[in-house]
Amino acid sequence: AIDPQFTENREQVDEHNGHAVWGPVDEPEDLGIHGTHVAVDFDLCIADGACLEDCPVDVFEWVDTPDHPESERKADPANEAQCIDCMLCVDVCPVDAIDVDAG
Ligand code: SF4
Ligand code: F3S
Ligand code: ZN
Repeated sequence: AIDPQFTENREQVDEHNGHAVWGPVDEPEDLGIHGTHVAVDFDLCIADGACLEDCPVDVFEWVDTPDHPESERKADPANEAQCIDCMLCVDVCPVDAIDVDAG
């Protein structure tokens, strides 16, 4: 599962679509965590798609990740500022790749 303490245990190494990327990143195998309020561990995501289907405010968008060992696309929290903290995505992800800090 995604480490809920990732902001302490990882370093921000990049930005993507207006959100942070938390390393380590070594493409194409290691992609890190995308987002902060809505965080997706790209190295765990298997492209199940439940988060895209269920998010009521369309926070997620697919991004292509060719040659990643788990899946060739990932759910990117492209619109994380729209999140209403419903926690549906956290509940439906089969590999617990998503953390939402409803703080
Ligand atoms: Fe969307 Fe709810 Fe997940 Fe926020 S917590 S990203 S609103 S499904
Ligand atoms: Fe990936 Fe989980 Fe969404 S596997 S596509 S983050 S439901
Ligand atoms: Zn991203």
